[in-house]
Amino acid sequence: MSSLSFRKLVVVRCRPLSRREETAGCENILEVDDKLGQITIRNPKAPPDEPMKVFTFDSVYGWNSKQRDIYDDAVRPLVESVLHGFNGTIFAYGQTGTGKTYTMQGLSKDPEKRGVIPNSFEHIFTQISRSQNQKYLVRSSYLEIYQEEIRDLLCKDNNKKLELKENPDYGIYVKDLSSVVTKNATEIEHVMNIGNQSRSVGFTNMNERSSRSHAIFLVTVECSERGPDGEDHIRVGKLNMVDLAGSERQSKTGAKGKRLKEAAKINLSLSALGNVISALVDGRSTHVPYRDSKLTRLLQDSLGGNAKTVMIAAVGPAHKSFNETLATLRYASRAKKIKNKPRINEDPKDALLREFQQEIARLKAQLEEQGMLAKERRKRRRDSKRLSKSMAGMEEEILWEKNGDVWKMAEEAEDGRHCLIEGGDSANILTCQGSSEKLKNLNLNRRSVGDMQWDQDALEKIIEKYKVFY
Ligand SMILES: Nc1ncnc2c1ncn2[C@@H]1O[C@H](COP(=O)(O)OP(=O)(O)O)[C@@H](O)[C@H]1O
Ligand SMILES: [Mg+2]
Repeated sequence: MSSLSFRKLVVVRCRPLSRREETAGCENILEVDDKLGQITIRNPKAPPDEPMKVFTFDSVYGWNSKQRDIYDDAVRPLVESVLHGFNGTIFAYGQTGTGKTYTMQGLSKDPEKRGVIPNSFEHIFTQISRSQNQKYLVRSSYLEIYQEEIRDLLCKDNNKKLELKENPDYGIYVKDLSSVVTKNATEIEHVMNIGNQSRSVGFTNMNERSSRSHAIFLVTVECSERGPDGEDHIRVGKLNMVDLAGSERQSKTGAKGKRLKEAAKINLSLSALGNVISALVDGRSTHVPYRDSKLTRLLQDSLGGNAKTVMIAAVGPAHKSFNETLATLRYASRAKKIKNKPRINEDPKDALLREFQQEIARLKAQLEEQGMLAKERRKRRRDSKRLSKSMAGMEEEILWEKNGDVWKMAEEAEDGRHCLIEGGDSANILTCQGSSEKLKNLNLNRRSVGDMQWDQDALEKIIEKYKVFY
């Protein structure tokens, strides 16, 4: 399948019977035919002659499927498209305990069990390292929607509720959401781990919460390349990786009182997702109710809009979950019928890379100018001594001469930041929040390097340049 022709995939993954289910003598009611892409479900209460229900999907994965298989077949082409400037979304949908988090996150310690999210990091940065004549900027955000409230998982004050905003230039976005620039797979994985830690901090029943919240890991890949017109063009691809709340019905979980209200709110986002899917599938509906929930509003572009999507419906094989499994298969079957119209995002107004490039060009000019002045001064002082440096080497030479210590300290600060990210201190994450503040905030985490004037600033930005472009 070519990455560019690919639009939408709906796949189903069935996990193995758990040990508990096995000991409890649960029957397996699912049969997976991966060659035909079919899954057959048997009603455990039906008479033996009742025909079984068969569903066909783009792909189906049985109990012994490998994380790698799912990534390579279903996800890799979508991530490839994101690198080409498309938006892409991967949803994991299904009842609690069916393997959504296992599929999206997996187990990080075992390379074979790493899920979609860490595999996408590896993929993105490998592709970038192989690219030529292109410059990339990768940043990520991590948020959670719980009871229709959005929380930033990368922000220290993660109880702050964030707002959804709309802007004619950027579309829908989360105001004040942190985004972290990362330059390799290890760094972005630290970001993910920090977010995961933050998901579990301060909540007495983590399992309950995680099964009731939607988690979205967003990776934005900006790519700048010189076009035939001699101009640099920037393409921006956004990859949303969504671990949805459990789709089980309230009656089954026995939710009451506050819990019921909470369940209703979860179901608000989930049922809104269902309604959006229905409206999109219908084709005749003029109104698609994206605005009915935070989730659907946030992912508006990714549902039937300008995005490629993969829905991974997770199911369990046990007879006890017959109703839920059937509901999941029906839901996924409906989603199969949506038509998307993906297109490349070229030169969008909110590209951070453009801002960086302009800033760097300005700083370069400033450095050259300062360099010329310094050169003049030295020339006068040392009379006939001449510097035999090329313009390219000159910036660095001058910075060293101007203040060797600054450079050293800034390097230390750079190392410090790296260690801090590695050490998992979320307070020191590099953040940028809103376009005008972007560059300023990108440097916020840096240790102060004294009372330097223009040169400290410029130096930091140049370091930024090397950190950002590779
Ligand atoms: N494909 C799979 N192979 C092996 N174990 C799995 C698989 N899918 C899920 N599991 C295990 O089943 C349990 C529930 O999975 P989890 O991903 O937490 O479900 P969910 O996020 O849908 O609630 C976990 O212990 C997980 O390790
Ligand atoms: Mg989960």
